Amino acid sequence: MASPLKALNYADDRYQKSFKLFLERSSEPQCMRDFIHNTLTDILASVGNGKSQLNVIGVGSGDGIVDLEMLSQLCQKHPGVLVDNEVVDPSSQRLNDYKAMVTQRPDLEHITFTWNKMTDSEFEEQWRQKNITKKADFIHMLHVLYYVKDPGATISFFQSLLDKNGKLLIALSSGESGWGKLWGNFRSQLLHTENHKWLTTADIKSLLDARGVPYQSYEVQAHVDITECFTEGDQTGELLLDFLTKVLDFSRTASPELRQEILRLLRDPQSSVEKGGRVLLKNRIEVLVLDALS
Ligand SMILES: C[S@@+](CC[C@H](N)C(=O)[O-])C[C@H]1O[C@@H](n2cnc3c(N)ncnc32)[C@H](O)[C@@H]1O
Repeated sequence: MASPLKALNYADDRYQKSFKLFLERSSEPQCMRDFIHNTLTDILASVGNGKSQLNVIGVGSGDGIVDLEMLSQLCQKHPGVLVDNEVVDPSSQRLNDYKAMVTQRPDLEHITFTWNKMTDSEFEEQWRQKNITKKADFIHMLHVLYYVKDPGATISFFQSLLDKNGKLLIALSSGESGWGKLWGNFRSQLLHTENHKWLTTADIKSLLDARGVPYQSYEVQAHVDITECFTEGDQTGELLLDFLTKVLDFSRTASPELRQEILRLLRDPQSSVEKGGRVLLKNRIEVLVLDALS
């Protein structure tokens, strides 16, 4: 029998609403900012090797908030250097949000933006067709490998574009996060859609290990306040559950048994902590840093 569950990704309005709520409830934006300022800054300083122009590619940049934080650190570490930034994202809505933010940042005058409204594989095709030979100094794909057709091929292609001192940054939920536990335990009962995979960095690390590709790994420990998920009928809780499970109207379409099992797992001390009456889901993000192929 066909599953009654429908993918959240195909309902852009509800996806946007639940993603926005997730960000409001999550310490991830602040934790990523801290990571960029405390750890990534040295990695950004190491790229380029004195070049007068740095080439950057953002894959699945979304609204660009994280991109601009990284770009601004890059410019601070390489004062006066020109930055050529290719943005790759198939969502016109997110690209428009990104463009709107750029117009409010006169401090980024050394950066030129090229907007590629396309998927990673379309970008790869375009790159090959146009026979582009430029090399990149910094490429990032943060929380995007869940959506690409073939994560291994995507990593190989973008890593092949790196210049000698270049770095490729990949971020995904860690298998050790509450979210990773949810996906690990319920992979088969939740949805597999063409455009969303249940991936964690554990999957990517096994892929890289099998290929003998070295990487450095950094953990960013964030949390999401999911308290309302445990109050039946609460709209905030329902939206958050949609985002966590990637199922549209999860509370109404999943069987009561599946809903109960998932709520139990979310409340398990392995997945979340309780603080001041709030339930905080552990949202560990792992950032992998790859060098250019030798
Ligand atoms: C969860 S958001 C991450 C945004 C941003 N990187 C961040 O970490 O805040 C994922 C983004 O990937 C984009 N995306 C989805 N499929 C993609 C693909 N095949 N190639 C490139 N980007 C894709 C989506 O449009 C969305 O903007």
